[in-house]
Amino acid sequence: MQQEALRRDILRRAQRLPSPPVIVMKLMHMADDETIGARALEPYFRSDQSLPARLLKLVNSSYFGLSNRVGTIPEAIELLGFDTLRSILLSAFFSRLLPKALLAYGYGPGGLWKHSLGVAALTRELAAAAGCAKALVEELYVAGLMHDIGKVVLGEAAQKPLMLVPDDGRLMLNVISSEREKLGFDHVQVGKMVGERWRLSPLIIEVIEKHHDLRLNKKEVGIVHLADQICVELRLGYVAACNYPVRLVTGIFDLVGLSGDKVTSIVASNRKRIERATAMFAATGGEQ
Ligand SMILES: [Fe+2]
Ligand SMILES: [Fe+2]
Repeated sequence: MQQEALRRDILRRAQRLPSPPVIVMKLMHMADDETIGARALEPYFRSDQSLPARLLKLVNSSYFGLSNRVGTIPEAIELLGFDTLRSILLSAFFSRLLPKALLAYGYGPGGLWKHSLGVAALTRELAAAAGCAKALVEELYVAGLMHDIGKVVLGEAAQKPLMLVPDDGRLMLNVISSEREKLGFDHVQVGKMVGERWRLSPLIIEVIEKHHDLRLNKKEVGIVHLADQICVELRLGYVAACNYPVRLVTGIFDLVGLSGDKVTSIVASNRKRIERATAMFAATGGEQ
């Protein structure tokens, strides 16, 4: 009976998770190099009246270190570029959505956001190196950002730790089986429900659903899986004492089409950039 109440609570939370604003959805489906002016985005800004003001506040925050004050959206786009604008808008939405801490999973304040942004940034680098077309690289970036969205629902519903927590000696190696055992759902099932409700693309939903299960043998899923594992290894977003051992699955490098050495060098040359990207959490108001 208790289990049934928990199940209903989880389904209700999955239904209630706020959808991204129209402009965020629109931006998620645009490639970086698409020529897009401020005017083309205007109708979408109108769908969320408070967005321009919030965006300008962010652009003028110390994070971007601009010498002159930016007063309009077109100016912001011109100064920062489309790619940065999209990152800001996605950050602004997700940093509000992703809670301050999800200790059930070992994430510190904003930890899931930092983890997700790190996975997205590394996915973009790996996908580009693996020869994916530009539009696919960008779709996978968003998939990286969304891959653990189910944890928002389950992490808040969970009354007890789902994995290793500081000062707890136990180590839960398999997050999926721990979730199923304790909650009756895992985060990929719940993530898929959320992705369908938000009408994300079929590929993004597939990545959400399969990023812990590579039996599909699909390169795109493998890339996000690999980026995920590396970000866990880098401890992005996890509380310091949290120590998950990472074991890469056999054949992962063949699946993504990159050698182990190449992946190591991509991680080494992008590590600072990825860690810096996750600092955007603070700039977008996630840490108050
Ligand atoms: Fe996951
Ligand atoms: Fe993850």
